[in-house]
Amino acid sequence: MTVLPLDALPLETLRRRSSSKWRTYGDDVIPMFVAETDFPLAEPITRALSEAVALGDTGYTPPRHGLAETFAAFARRRLGWDVDATRVRTTGDVMMGVVELIRALTEPGDRVVIAPPVYPPFAMCTEEAGAVVDEVPLRDTGDGWELDVDGIDTALAAGARVVLVCNPHNPTGTVHTRESLAAIAASARRYGAAVISDEIHAPLVHDAASFTPFLAASEDAAAVGYTVTSASKAYNLAGLKCAVMVTASDQATRIVRGLPKEVEWRTGLFGVHAAIAAFSEESDAWLDGLRAALDGNRHLVADLLAEHLPLARYRIPQAGYLAWIDLSAYGWGDDPARRILKEAGVALHHGPLFGASGVGHVRLNFGCSPELLRTAIERIGAMAVSSPRVPHASTP
Ligand SMILES: Cc1ncc(COP(=O)(O)O)c(C=O)c1O
Repeated sequence: MTVLPLDALPLETLRRRSSSKWRTYGDDVIPMFVAETDFPLAEPITRALSEAVALGDTGYTPPRHGLAETFAAFARRRLGWDVDATRVRTTGDVMMGVVELIRALTEPGDRVVIAPPVYPPFAMCTEEAGAVVDEVPLRDTGDGWELDVDGIDTALAAGARVVLVCNPHNPTGTVHTRESLAAIAASARRYGAAVISDEIHAPLVHDAASFTPFLAASEDAAAVGYTVTSASKAYNLAGLKCAVMVTASDQATRIVRGLPKEVEWRTGLFGVHAAIAAFSEESDAWLDGLRAALDGNRHLVADLLAEHLPLARYRIPQAGYLAWIDLSAYGWGDDPARRILKEAGVALHHGPLFGASGVGHVRLNFGCSPELLRTAIERIGAMAVSSPRVPHASTP
């Protein structure tokens, strides 16, 4: 395996970016909220996009462009997953795919199971599709989290039509086990329901062997599952608008092919160019460099918290670049991110937006340089020095 050592771009370069991460707040704030990363693009992506710009190749996306085949090869090479390229369709982004699939799989008012704490748009998109959120929270195992398979079975038995799985899970970074995914698939099949699996963070699983693509979890999963994913998180391409929807059964494939034509038409051409470059073997060394950098950072977060915020509770995520941190011991209110923004000038994502269990929590994006991470946590730590502390919730 070739690993290309990867360093985040310097702060003065990043401040020239025009994306949400860099233009929501002023230059006095360190932005660590939205899921964008601070690394240079993989060279094959830069090349593909530069060539397209030079050509003025900025039109609509054609019906056949090769992404399905490139994604299938990536899935085999990187995830040990056999994808049938004829069952891959594209759309504008992952959440667009999720909304349209929920709309196709439910009647207005049907229930969709989500597992909070979870990426806030899971609830918003369920509502946008005319369905109703049915929360079955993750179970805290003491040293991690897991899907509550019994709770999900109960919800499906009571009539929920869809389970929306996030694997790896945002914000906890949990990689769900094959057993839990297979159990949910069996329940869904028993009750005639469907499972939509958002696997956008899958290229960034730290122990790649531990990841089970939902459609490969079991025969039931292949029958009831719809996977939606993209290159946008791992390769920082969110602005380019391209995601893939993958199925493994004739019935699920029919549902995807039956979506309105516009769903596929909304795929961005630059997104296709970039995703093909990202998922090609040429970008593997870059991806491994990113994984190595993030592996260092996920442990650095633990070290920095121990040093500057010793009452914080953090479990090292199994994937991605998001840290889910419980700061309730500091008594900074239900939404510590508010006070941290004001007092430390660090923008974190608001824990309560992820569900009731997010009270007292923040989500920190460590897809940055170790230096910026250190500065941010030192700044938050300085607040702790001057704040009253309340006893740790779990201290006997
Ligand atoms: C789990 C998850 N799904 C979807 C998205 C958004 O993806 P897209 O921009 O392709 O809709 C994110 C972004 O952070 C995410 O974390």
